[in-house]
Amino acid sequence: MNGGNPLNHPHTSRIYDYFLGGKDNYEVDRQAAEEILTAWPSIRIAARVNRQFMHRSTRFLAESGIRQFLDVGTGIPTEPNLHQIAQQTAPDSRVVYVDNDPVVLAHARAYMTGNTQGATTYIYGDVTEPKAIVDAPELTDVLDLSEPVGLSMIALLHFVEADVNQIVSTFLDAFAPGSYLVICTITADFAPEQVNAAQNVYRVRKLPAQVRTRDEVTGWFAGLDLVEPGVVPPHRWRLGESVEIPPTFDATVSCYCGVARKP
Ligand SMILES: C[S@@+](CC[C@H](N)C(=O)[O-])C[C@H]1O[C@@H](n2cnc3c(N)ncnc32)[C@H](O)[C@@H]1O
Repeated sequence: MNGGNPLNHPHTSRIYDYFLGGKDNYEVDRQAAEEILTAWPSIRIAARVNRQFMHRSTRFLAESGIRQFLDVGTGIPTEPNLHQIAQQTAPDSRVVYVDNDPVVLAHARAYMTGNTQGATTYIYGDVTEPKAIVDAPELTDVLDLSEPVGLSMIALLHFVEADVNQIVSTFLDAFAPGSYLVICTITADFAPEQVNAAQNVYRVRKLPAQVRTRDEVTGWFAGLDLVEPGVVPPHRWRLGESVEIPPTFDATVSCYCGVARKP
């Protein structure tokens, strides 16, 4: 349940905040998080690796010339946040954050301010209604949709049981050529027992959860130019050639990510 009193219902944002060692979570979130940790003990490591992928992919987009960012499924602010990474490289970057947890937006409004050159804004929105997000006046006040946009949906789509292809195409149809799509999502390909058990903990609490295969994630990038190295676990995405990662770490992290450009 996403709505209602946050003290009574766990939310994915606050469970994730607990995994990252944050303080913006309630007892009901911590109980759910502990059960998920029992099912999949390395999920805290996965959360940190996912966060580091957000840093690298955002820097990559800014270095590739992107100056407008749409981050859907923002999460409770965790430094450095996406706008800080983007504005480190390109101070004039404009960032729109979207989340469906009012608690996230309250924190975001309080803590996340852009620099003087760039702009940062926050919208309440649900990724399953992408048209409402791209049409929101608060978005078009900050983003010029005739120019490329970097769309990040990081650690979000495993909370979406709806058709992700439809969501992706609605966003990208609204964006100019040269826009980018950045995704990171959970898979059960490497550690099916643990990850499926964790998925079940979410579902029992009526939180949508859906793991995906590599083929499914690759399909979301159809028609786009996938940036090298393609769809891979996030610790294998442009980490630097000198870093050696043991194959067993893929099961620890159990995510796939990818970055692609709209031609
Ligand atoms: C695991 S956090 C990821 C935060 C951040 N993107 C990161 O990677 O560190 C997932 C976020 O997605 C939000 N979320 C979950 N379902 C959503 C939906 N249907 N629409 C919009 N946001 C959603 C949650 O509130 C939460 O803040």
